[in-house]
Amino acid sequence: MDSQFDTAVAAYESSMEEMPFREHVEAYSFLNAVGDVIGRDVLDLGCGSGLYARRLRRAGAARAVGMDESAAMVEHAQRREAREGLGVEYVAADAADPAAGDLPDIAGSFDVVTAVYVLPYASSQAELQGFCATARRALRVAGGRFVAAVLNPEFSTDPQWYRGYGMLLSSQESPEEGTPGHLRAWVGPEVLDLDFFRWSAAAHEEALKTAGFDRVSWIRPTVSEEGRARYGEAFWANYLNCPHALIIDAQASPKAVPDSRPRPARSADETPQQ
Ligand SMILES: C[S@@+](CC[C@H](N)C(=O)[O-])C[C@H]1O[C@@H](n2cnc3c(N)ncnc32)[C@H](O)[C@@H]1O
Repeated sequence: MDSQFDTAVAAYESSMEEMPFREHVEAYSFLNAVGDVIGRDVLDLGCGSGLYARRLRRAGAARAVGMDESAAMVEHAQRREAREGLGVEYVAADAADPAAGDLPDIAGSFDVVTAVYVLPYASSQAELQGFCATARRALRVAGGRFVAAVLNPEFSTDPQWYRGYGMLLSSQESPEEGTPGHLRAWVGPEVLDLDFFRWSAAAHEEALKTAGFDRVSWIRPTVSEEGRARYGEAFWANYLNCPHALIIDAQASPKAVPDSRPRPARSADETPQQ
């Protein structure tokens, strides 16, 4: 499937080094929110070039799978995997289609599902709901967590606010759900131009609840010690004051499974009287 991300492979691959906020705020805060993955099975939706799928595997995940609809991203991630042999699996699929959560070896197979900057690319409430449904279907019947970095519904529309972090975010001021917006990011020599959609906190929560996540918390990112030491407090002040992204930690309860055990035959004494 053609995707606006097909030409963004190199930019994403180098973005952790080129954009200090990605490493010292985003990855630091996101991986803290995900917590210990040792021995756990993790699916990363919208894995892009595989940055987080690889990190989660290196952090001890028993199984790490990345899913992305961009053929170029998946092919790149698979080529890296062939070289590095970390044991990360990649699947090309549209994660906004809940059927992606029913694929063999995906359905009911994971303890944790992650998604970094993927939900903002839902162009309709049905797609937002679809991402969440895929996450729930991929988690175990017994439950699990969906941890997602999403666009802050209250991000600053001052065009210069994130300029010092290599980004320009713009969008109409509109109360409409799914209002289009645009991100321009400077990643070393690459310039990324991406179209996204703005969803309110209530729209995210509604989509998550409909998909079966009954406890949803929002986490504000913080900056690592190393990031503070290397760039200084003043550098981070704007970003931390109004971050462009927030983290959602959504917990799914066990699914009710119909009891398929054969029922014991009724004894003669229990036969209802006519
Ligand atoms: C902003 S990039 C983030 C990539 C990666 N998560 C990271 O943090 O480096 C968004 C990714 O989500 C993928 N994506 C967007 N919509 C998708 C969909 N419906 N199904 C699967 N992947 C999708 C894009 O192809 C792209 O690789």
